[in-house]
Amino acid sequence: MTKKFSRKIGQKIVIGNWKMNPLTVAEAKRIIVSVKKAAKKLNRTKVVICPPSPFIGYALPRVPEKSTAKGVVSVGAQDVFYEEQGAFTGEVSARQLADMDLGYVIVGHSERRRAGEGAFAAETDVVVAKKAIAVAQAGMVAVLCVGETVRDAHGEYLDFLRNQIRASLQGFSKKYIEERRLVVAYEPVWAIGAKEAMTPTLIHEMTIFVKKVLADLYGQEEAFDVPVLYGGSVNFRNAADIIRGGEVNGLLVGRESVNAPGFAELIRAVDEVK
Ligand code: 13P
Repeated sequence: MTKKFSRKIGQKIVIGNWKMNPLTVAEAKRIIVSVKKAAKKLNRTKVVICPPSPFIGYALPRVPEKSTAKGVVSVGAQDVFYEEQGAFTGEVSARQLADMDLGYVIVGHSERRRAGEGAFAAETDVVVAKKAIAVAQAGMVAVLCVGETVRDAHGEYLDFLRNQIRASLQGFSKKYIEERRLVVAYEPVWAIGAKEAMTPTLIHEMTIFVKKVLADLYGQEEAFDVPVLYGGSVNFRNAADIIRGGEVNGLLVGRESVNAPGFAELIRAVDEVK
């Protein structure tokens, strides 16, 4: 499976993670129409939306992913199972998602890593790594979420993050990096669903740190090509500053991605950053 995805260097990526929203098909369709309309005016920004799986069909682009048509909104999934097929009730495989022409799959979101009832699966780094590999093997891009839960004063969160990235990429080969099948989304857990995002200055520090960890794993040049996104309380007001000051390659957006006018404004603002 060697489907190639075109991602121009310098292009920014905005991924909307809808999580378990919105409530109705009608509202999902309304958001999709709004995003597609706003995306037509973009010059240097790629937009990906990741709706809950039952809504994915409504979001699929009419043109194939490899098309260079302006304003194509790519569609992604919020999770995947690493086995290819079989008796795994409730799961969806990477091969199945790839066959639907999906381009991106989020893996290792903190809401899946955490322990708890129901959807909170207490996913380990080992499981996350298997999922990332399955996504790349199926010819899609894995959007690997990483981030510390707390920030201590002694910098232990840096060790935590380094270990989490390394373990979540265990077995993810350099070949996939060269084929551009990895995006890393740095999402400090404490900034998700919060009032405020992390400051652009701190985001910049963390972007450098993430790139350094990737460089140690895959080499300097290869690491440079891996887009690093920021996620956590991004909205249409702070998006451009985060891109500029944080020097990230894009954003992973939660709440604002299901607010149709806010998300339209957000992608416009990001696109204006040169
Ligand atoms: P919020 O943008 O709602 O803080 O969510 C961020 C997130 O978890 C995206 O994956």
